[in-house]
Amino acid sequence: MRNPVKAPVDTMLRGLPIKAQNEIHKTLDNVGTMLSVQNPKVAASMAPSAMRGMVLGEGKHGDHVDMKAHHSAHYTLSYQGDFVEMYELYRRAVSKQWDGDGDLPWGLDVSPDNPDAQILPRSFVPFDAVEGFGVKLTALEERRLTWDVAAWMLSQFMHGEQGALYAAAQVTECVQWMDGKLYGATQVMDEGRHLEVFLRYLDTKLEKIYTVNDNLFIIIDDLMTDGRWDIKFLGMQIMIEGLALGAFTTMFQQTREPLLKQLLKMVIQDEARHVHYGVLALREHITKNISERERREREDWAYEVALLMRNRFKMREVYEEWFSHKVSLKTWDEEMMRSPSMLKFRSIMFERLIPNLEYIGLMSDRIKDHYEKSGLTQYLGGKNATQLTEDDLTVESDDDELPAEVRELAG
Ligand SMILES: [Fe+2]
Ligand SMILES: [Fe+2]
Repeated sequence: MRNPVKAPVDTMLRGLPIKAQNEIHKTLDNVGTMLSVQNPKVAASMAPSAMRGMVLGEGKHGDHVDMKAHHSAHYTLSYQGDFVEMYELYRRAVSKQWDGDGDLPWGLDVSPDNPDAQILPRSFVPFDAVEGFGVKLTALEERRLTWDVAAWMLSQFMHGEQGALYAAAQVTECVQWMDGKLYGATQVMDEGRHLEVFLRYLDTKLEKIYTVNDNLFIIIDDLMTDGRWDIKFLGMQIMIEGLALGAFTTMFQQTREPLLKQLLKMVIQDEARHVHYGVLALREHITKNISERERREREDWAYEVALLMRNRFKMREVYEEWFSHKVSLKTWDEEMMRSPSMLKFRSIMFERLIPNLEYIGLMSDRIKDHYEKSGLTQYLGGKNATQLTEDDLTVESDDDELPAEVRELAG
């Protein structure tokens, strides 16, 4: 159906230079993002972070950002073992620590010109759309663009890892379980190592780092500054880690570059524990410690953040570098939403996320209706983090085939 608001905007944009069109599109898109958050409480809690990320662009300037944290540290006096499964996860994490320097083959040569070790397959980049823009790329330029797309994704992973490092440290202070604190200490180490290896790969192999995506910045800023530990926990351990697991798995299955493949495999095995810990802690907390009103609030928050994450990763920094002279940002955004590789990525992300939300008690019939309307209930009943082993998550994919529902969406 024709959107009555969209049509006049399209008419208004027509004929303007691309740069002016892009500015208008960005403003409308930012406003649209905040309006798309339907729950007023969730919108109000995110507004300061949205202001810092989208309007002030704090993630794009200077060499650091101060995010004011104000949570309570829970200092235990009992020192009692209090959560057997968390303690077992802690022991497993201790025995599976690895060395980001010595355990990866850093000596391998990584180059965009090596067709036998492609960092991502050609199918990952929407070259059909690029052709539709009227841009003709040589074979070498195609490989360079693919390389930049990989650098963009890995840069976002690295920014996310920095957020995960601080969130893991904060949550370790906040949780009430002694065994959760022990486990949390291993996660802080894991996230530090992830930051180390992604940074080293970008810096010494791809020799390129992109700035943090505005939407990722908003979610991280929101989590750092929210004083409620379980919202921090839900946001980082379930939503962002779930997103990261989906993204890592997609890239792990598709890359033919051996160093990156090994790096991602090691990181995925750690992340599987992180999400497992998150669902254990939150299920206990949500089903036993909080009121129905508080549970609903968290359920609404998770739903809105899930939709924000689904719709907001469009590689705009890559667009600025490669295509901003040729097509408008709006056209690029539309192509990104249709791109088969992005559809696959989103599908894997929700396949991980929805069963976890169900397991921790944030999928009542009331909210299921919303997920239904957003076309996401197909993932209900899937395996949650307590049922997935590290090996399940690092199964090799034989081909680059898209799942049936993704092919359908891709048309
Ligand atoms: Fe991590
Ligand atoms: Fe993690």
